[in-house]
Amino acid sequence: MIKLSKRLQKIYDFIDDGSVVKDIGADHGKLIISLIENHKVSHAYANENKKGPYKRLELATKDYPNINISFSDGLEKLAKDVNTLVLAGMGGHLIAKILLDNAKKLDQIEYIIIDAHNDNSFIRKTIANLNYKIIDEDIVLENKVYYEIIKFQKTDKTKIYNDIELKYGPILVKNKPVLFIQKYQKRLEVIDKLLAIKSLSSYRKTNLKKERDVINNILK
Ligand SMILES: C[S@@+](CC[C@H](N)C(=O)[O-])C[C@H]1O[C@@H](n2cnc3c(N)ncnc32)[C@H](O)[C@@H]1O
Repeated sequence: MIKLSKRLQKIYDFIDDGSVVKDIGADHGKLIISLIENHKVSHAYANENKKGPYKRLELATKDYPNINISFSDGLEKLAKDVNTLVLAGMGGHLIAKILLDNAKKLDQIEYIIIDAHNDNSFIRKTIANLNYKIIDEDIVLENKVYYEIIKFQKTDKTKIYNDIELKYGPILVKNKPVLFIQKYQKRLEVIDKLLAIKSLSSYRKTNLKKERDVINNILK
């Protein structure tokens, strides 16, 4: 049985039993193999758009007839039965581009699970504008990096999130998991250190103080 990292395990946990998943940019294919090995899904799809990672994916999945792989870009080859997309381990802007390049194909997609390695605020806004709402979020710590995992579900009405929800995550703010508190306590320490620098511009100081107030408000 394949062992998943904490990050991939959280994504795995966010996938509903019996879904039809496509892992975009699957590379080593570990997530999709684990879903099949544990019979969480009956079959699944994965793609890669670069030769090296595609070769890795091909090799890793060769003994799994229920995993359909393709050498393709983003959503260009999307089987009709896929209802859940996973986009993990990429930057927020790349994830947004992949979705926006083929936005029409999202008609069939009920769930999108994201692990963006930066620009989470931008990705929350972009996917909300595509008529998805955030239904789950969590945070994992791996190799000293905090990863936010976000699960979106299709909705009829565009959900509007305020700036704090976009930046910090509406469900993370509500649930305040231990690692979320830890992440922002560390940020408060960094802010205090920066504010102690005498040469810091007053513009920067004002912004840092505003950020500190927002974080203190969220954590209280
Ligand atoms: C850092 S890896 C992450 C692998 C895996 N998803 C994970 O989270 O562990 C990102 C992968 O996305 C692939 N990728 C980037 N843009 C892509 C696109 N437009 N279509 C398909 N794959 C893409 C890259 O080739 C790379 O292998």
